[in-house]
This record gives sequence, structure tokens and C-alpha cells, in this order.
Amino acid sequence: MTQNEMKKAAAIKALEFVENDTIVGVGTGSTVNYFIDALATIKNKIIGAVSSSDESSKRLKAHGIEVFDLNSVDVLDVYVDGADEITKHKAMIKGGGAALTREKIVAAVAKKFICIADTSKQVAVLGSFPLPVEVIPMARSYVARELVNLGGDPVYRQGVVTDNSNVILDVYNLEILDPKALEAQINAIVGVVTNGLFAHRGADILVLGSEDGVSVVI
Ligand code: 5RP
Repeated sequence: MTQNEMKKAAAIKALEFVENDTIVGVGTGSTVNYFIDALATIKNKIIGAVSSSDESSKRLKAHGIEVFDLNSVDVLDVYVDGADEITKHKAMIKGGGAALTREKIVAAVAKKFICIADTSKQVAVLGSFPLPVEVIPMARSYVARELVNLGGDPVYRQGVVTDNSNVILDVYNLEILDPKALEAQINAIVGVVTNGLFAHRGADILVLGSEDGVSVVI
């Protein structure tokens, strides 16, 4: 199987976690795009979706799936999203697609986080993938200096403005041995909106596409 076939297989398998007559939390990225396309095949069985990005909202609407404002939704049973890296404890780095803040908000509301990924995303230690940090534009240089003090090498993601009108710093060369501690430490820097470590609220279930097929890791 190619990487895209693994992503697609994981995305289709994740449909098994979607209950009838519910609103589904939907992430962002190429793996999630396969999930949205799969969700369209059962669109008459669900009420609709809450989306983590303008990009995903557009794709959901193009399929005729209603997109709800999170403020009008009390309960989300599942949130389905991809990851840039995931450990065996299901802590993740996310935000390669710059949607990390909304992803973290929707994930916080959901009862279960289902991560859909291919095997290339599995790591022993987080940090080979540069850690995205969403920053208020006027704080960019200050936050970058603070991130250097934490041992990282922040790089401004040129030309990218998030759905919340902020900028992204990608932090290279972090060996993240304590993801929960670093997630809290970076979020405490003034000017940071959030960072792409999903450790306090990691995934509950990993649906993994591999050469041998799809497995569900609980
Ligand atoms: C977007 C994300 C994505 O989930 C992550 O980048 C994985 O993307 P892909 O499924 O395209 O590999 O966090 O902000």
C-alpha cells in the first residue's frame, strides 16, 4: 500500500466509531480529507459536523454535510483527526496544516479523540517534526526568543496566516521527553495562542493504516 492508501484505509475504518444521529468532530489535513469523503457516504445517518478549519468546512459543505458552530453544540461523541507524530502513549504533534488551535478546541469538547494515521507518523519520541506554535502577530519575535531559551530553533512559517488571523512558528530541534510539561510551558509564554503538542488531551484511539492493513490501537 502507498502512504495515501494507508491514510485512506484508516479514514474509512474510522467510520465505525461514528454513531447514527450524532454531530461528528472533524479535523484537518490530507488524512481527514479521506475521512470527510468517507463520511459523505453515510451523511444521511448523521446530523452533521463541527469542523476545525475553513478548509475542512468547505469540503464538508461541498459534500452536503451541515457544519455546526461549536457554540451551538453541547456534546460531541467523537473527534476524528490526523497527526504529524504520535507516540505509543498517543501524545501527538499536530499543526502541520496550521489548524492546531481550532483542532485543540474541538478535541477538548469531544468525548473520544480518534487519531487516523499511517505508520510514518509513529515515533518513539516527539520532536523530529518541528513543533508548530500559533502566535499573536505582534508577539512573534518575543515568543521566538523565549522558544530559543527553551532549547528550540523557531522558524517563522512565511506566508501562512491561520484561520484565527495569527502566525505560526515551527520549532526545530526539540527532543520532547515530557510532552505534558512542555505543552504547558510553551502555552504559558505571553503571546502564544496554543502549541501543537496534544499531550494533556491526547488521542484515545489510534486507527493505523499500515502495509498489512488497518489496526485499531486502544
Ligand atoms: C493539521 C494537522 C494534521 O492533522 C496533520 O498535519 C496531519 O496531516 P496529514 O493527514 O495531511 O498528514 O494537525 O493542522
